[in-house]
Amino acid sequence: MKSIYLDHAASTPIHPKVAEEMMRVMTSQYGNASSVHAYGREAKKLMSGSRDRMAALLGCMPDELVFTAGGTESDNLAIFGTLEAMGLEGKHVITSAIEHHAVLHTCQELEKRGCEVTYVPVDETGRVSAEQVANAIQDNTVLITIMFGNNEIGTLQPIREIGELARSRGIVFHTDAVQALGTESIVCRDYPVDLWSFSAHKINGPGGIGALVVKRGHTLSPRLYGGLQEKKRRAGTENLAGIAGFAKAVELAVDGLADRRSHYMMLRNTFIQSLNQEIGQDAFAVNGHPEFFMPHIINISFPGVNTETMLMNLDMEGIAAASGSACTSGSLEVSHVLQAMELSEKLLHSAIRFSFGLGNTSQEMEYTAQKIGTIINRLRK
Ligand SMILES: Cc1ncc(COP(=O)(O)O)c(C=O)c1O
Repeated sequence: MKSIYLDHAASTPIHPKVAEEMMRVMTSQYGNASSVHAYGREAKKLMSGSRDRMAALLGCMPDELVFTAGGTESDNLAIFGTLEAMGLEGKHVITSAIEHHAVLHTCQELEKRGCEVTYVPVDETGRVSAEQVANAIQDNTVLITIMFGNNEIGTLQPIREIGELARSRGIVFHTDAVQALGTESIVCRDYPVDLWSFSAHKINGPGGIGALVVKRGHTLSPRLYGGLQEKKRRAGTENLAGIAGFAKAVELAVDGLADRRSHYMMLRNTFIQSLNQEIGQDAFAVNGHPEFFMPHIINISFPGVNTETMLMNLDMEGIAAASGSACTSGSLEVSHVLQAMELSEKLLHSAIRFSFGLGNTSQEMEYTAQKIGTIINRLRK
């Protein structure tokens, strides 16, 4: 049986060049970058080199880059760190209804601690409007956090517009760009954004390492205490191999951006065409924005076929896809993103996320579409 991985928005395989770089670091560097001896100095040099390279690729200053343990920690640090530095009580935060839980749950926690949060709705394509964000601004609004691109449907948000709005009102702006790095051109200094979250394992880097880009001059309270690392913004001995691997993964992603984008577009188009041939255009619907989307994520509903049933049948055929929703006690919860888009019940309960990676081929797209045809016919019988 073939085995086809179409869940790259969940995690990606490590690129061989990233693994090679990490292996080199893991087997040759064991000093602690805070130690004063030669081993420590070597470790520090290696870390600074990775930081400098990564900052250059992301268009920020090296000291604006804070290494974390992943996208979730970056989101938490951006939101809590900003609010705690200002004093939580009575402050207002604006976010959207379709953020990743790393942002949504953090905002819910803020509410428990005396902050007010507005969850701006989205349209039927999953897009936030800058106008609605503008309407939500209050005198006590201190932070806006809206993701760059959504992890379930791929829809891109009007980040520049929202950032300009935030800047004109003196409000801090954070964006979770975890899914966008690798498909969108991100030069941090070219955007009116104060805080950016990134994660390595979504771009063929290792798990457990991420970054928060913090614009110079922005004050952040740390979430972790116990050391002076990362300019007192994130305590703890640095993950040297992870940082080196992350820098390599960013280099490959940024240098190969145009190729990646066209590869994902080709896969996406082939998939849609093949589905048209195999099941006909009335048997599926693409959820998300038709123009503003990240090409590696496509969310498709197959009306009449329940999400869980389709996922299980695909798995039996060796095809790994996902629903955006969490699996709680063995059954799938309906996705908060698709709910916020107010999809019809038919589309809501039959949605599947397919997300592409470097190793996927057009033949795999054709094969997956064929298998979907077989599954639908089998279920109809
Ligand atoms: C948009 C978005 N933000 C944050 C995260 C969390 O990142 P990590 O798995 O590195 O903690 C994810 C991962 O699914 C994501 O897709």
